[in-house]
Formats: sequence, C-alpha cells, structure tokens
Amino acid sequence: MTPGTPTPLALTCDGALAGHVTVPGDKSISHRALMLGALAVGETTVEGLLEGEDVLATAAAMRAMGAEIRRDDNGVWHIHGVGVGGLLQPRAALDMGNSGTSTRLLMGLVASAPITATFIGDASLSGRPMGRVIAPLSAMGATFAATPGAGGRQCLPLTMTGACPAVALDYRLPVASAQVKSAVLLAGLNTPGETTVIEPIATRDHSERMLAGFGATLRREASPEGRRITIVGEAELRPQAIIVPGDPSSAAFPLVAALLVPGSHVTVANVGINPTRAGLIAVLQAMGGDITLANRREVGGEPVADLVVRASPLTGIDVPPENAAAMIDEYPILFVAAALAEGRTVMRGIEELRVKESDRIATMASGLAAAGVRVEELPDGLIVTGSGGALVAGGATVAARLDHRIAMSFAVLGLVARAPIVIDDGRPIATSFPGFVAMFRSLGARAEA
Ligand code: S3P
Repeated sequence: MTPGTPTPLALTCDGALAGHVTVPGDKSISHRALMLGALAVGETTVEGLLEGEDVLATAAAMRAMGAEIRRDDNGVWHIHGVGVGGLLQPRAALDMGNSGTSTRLLMGLVASAPITATFIGDASLSGRPMGRVIAPLSAMGATFAATPGAGGRQCLPLTMTGACPAVALDYRLPVASAQVKSAVLLAGLNTPGETTVIEPIATRDHSERMLAGFGATLRREASPEGRRITIVGEAELRPQAIIVPGDPSSAAFPLVAALLVPGSHVTVANVGINPTRAGLIAVLQAMGGDITLANRREVGGEPVADLVVRASPLTGIDVPPENAAAMIDEYPILFVAAALAEGRTVMRGIEELRVKESDRIATMASGLAAAGVRVEELPDGLIVTGSGGALVAGGATVAARLDHRIAMSFAVLGLVARAPIVIDDGRPIATSFPGFVAMFRSLGARAEA
C-alpha cells in the first residue's frame, strides 16, 4: 500500500443496484501463475491477471529471483522462467507488502533453492504467524531466522536459506491451510524424491491443478486421513497460456450487496466456482438468496459461471463449520449478510480468521456493533442477530486495520445503513480489488471519501 495518509471511504445508495459487472482475476490463481511461470523454461502468458498490490509483490519477488516478467499493452503478462532449481539469490529483501500468500508460497520455493532470502512486509503481515510454514520447511532442511512476535509467533522480518538438495517429506497439515499445503508442494518441486501433503480438510486446490497443468507429476488420492497430494521432485515445468477467472472472493461483495439492497438485480460475470472456493454461494442460497449460476463453463482448468443475483429476504442459519475452508475469506461479507437476515446466523469453527490480514472476528465484531448490529463474539466464531431486512443504524466510523476484506465488507454494509458507515482507510482495497469503488458506482452506488 502506498505510504501516506489514510483515505476514508463510504458507500451509499438511494435505490436498487443494477447492472452487469466483472471482477478482477483470482488472487490465488494469479500468484501461482506468476510463480510457476517463473519456474518454467520458455514463455508463459497470463490473461486476466489480478493487477493488485499483493500479486504485484509476487511479480517483483520473482523478478528479483531471476524471472523476466512484463505486461504488454493488451494487459497480457509474459513470463520467461528460470527453470526449477534456477532461482537466483535476490540482492535485496523481498517486500511482500500485505500479502501472506506471496510470503508463504515463496518461502516454499526458496526452501529447496541454494539461496538466502529475506522477507519483509507491512505491519499487518509482520504480525502474522509464519511458524506454520517454517515447521515443515525446516524438516525439509531449510534454515530460518524469524522475528519473535506476540504469543510466541515466528514473524517477519525473516531470513531463510534453502537446502539443496532438500529432503522429501510426508506432511500432515495441522491447520486447514492452502498456503501451507502449497508451500510444501512448491518446495517439493526441486526436491529429489516424492513429497506428500496430507490434508484432513480439503482446501483450495489451485496449486495442484496448476502444477499438473504445467506438467509436474502430481498424484491426488483419497485416504482415511484425508486427501494425499504427492509431487514428484526435480520436475520440469512446461510454459503455459493461462486465463485467470474472476475471483469469487471479490465477487462476494457485489453478490451480497445485490441480495441486500431491495429491488437489486445484478449479474457478476466470469466468476470462478471451484468447489474448494464456492462455499459462500451455497450458504447464501440456504439463507434464501436468489442466486443463479448461468453459463457454466471451464476456463483454463477451472470451473466458471456468471452469477445472476436478485435482492432477497434472508434467514439466519447455523453455517456448517465443515464449510469453512471453502469460504474462509468470505466470512466478513457473510457477517454483513447475516446482519440483514431474519434471526440468528451462527458461524463457528472459524478461529483461523483471527490470523488473517487482521483478526477478522474481532475487527468485524467491533465494527458491526458500532454500526448498530447485534453480535456475540465467540473464541471460534460469531453469532449475528439480523435486522430482518431493516436498515442498520450506521452512522459510525469503523477501523479496517489494514485489511482489504474488512474495508470492502463495511463499505457494503453502508449501502443498507440509515446513516453512512465510514471506513477509516480504504487504501487496503487495492491489494485485491482495484476498481472496487468504480464497480459499485457502475451499479448505482455513491462513494464518498
Ligand atoms: C490462500 C489461502 C487462504 C486464504 C488466502 C489465500 C491461497 O489462506 O485465506 O486469502 O491463495 O492459498 P490459508 O491457506 O492460510 O487458509
């Protein structure tokens, strides 16, 4: 995020939202496209790459480790990779900004390369736990010097040295985390032998899909302990032409806004609906949301659809905790949907939200309460008692705490508030959704700074 003064933001609207919009490319897929393109020999092209700050941090890091990456005038990205095993020693610290995904996945890549790298980030990222990747990558032979953080956490700034050759590993994920899974699989790319990750709870599988697409040998098997994913090391990756679908986590904002603002009718086109990501849609439908998945198709190895959404009265439900991994980034906006539902929405089993860009349970609970919403914070979740469709009070300034999804969630709540909800700083939105405000304006909302 550009340093400087905070930029407050408030969205309001006078009537229904209407229109046909698209959202930027998927953030998870964009990171992975740059990383794998940077390891393939030859030219990989990427269309629809998310040009948000998080992804640009990944691009800068891959350039610093030797890849050639450029964007042409048509918005297509061209990557000339260094080959698996070919990463160069970066000359300066890698600045990851706000991006946990960049940090943890790149730590995986560095872990099996004969290089030393230092990772730094903003205040939010520097408080997030890195021990979850340090543990398996240490077992593979990498060495780390991390900064001690709150509660015994290992944090950025962090310097690590890869092991070459690294030692193959069989690793059972102690937390449901696609970032940890991906870090180990990416480390396995340049490791002799077979590296296996076992995930008791399925998390987003973009790494697996894309590794296979780039020609790595990867096996996915069901086992009594969960999904076993094995990568055969010392792989050679073949360059690809990648098309990135729209990000379902970004689509969640116009989707919920259209459900909540009376009379709205919105289409969000070209949205990824990978089952490991699409949990929110089923939950909103179970709450009574009128959402149709039109024009289902496959784009670049990922399922995609157009979401056709009409404003709907919602009813609170108990959200099954086993759905959490498939909608982990969507809870802040689900809390907003719950704020307008009839009755209680109970969301538990989501303690992982406490270690995202902010503590998303605490940050949302305090902002919702300030906006007049009834909430009960639990150690592992939140219970929201909704207004039954009535506008919430609003008239508050809420803290985004360097967290893009918190800022966007409260911006949407402002559309159904009697008095404006001001987000103290809208700048973090640029990490994942440049064009957020412009998109809402095109649907009929007003943005005030
Ligand atoms: C991501 C995985 C998730 C998610 C994050 C992106 C990824 O994190 O919250 O926004 O691209 O792998 P965890 O794997 O830590 O749950």
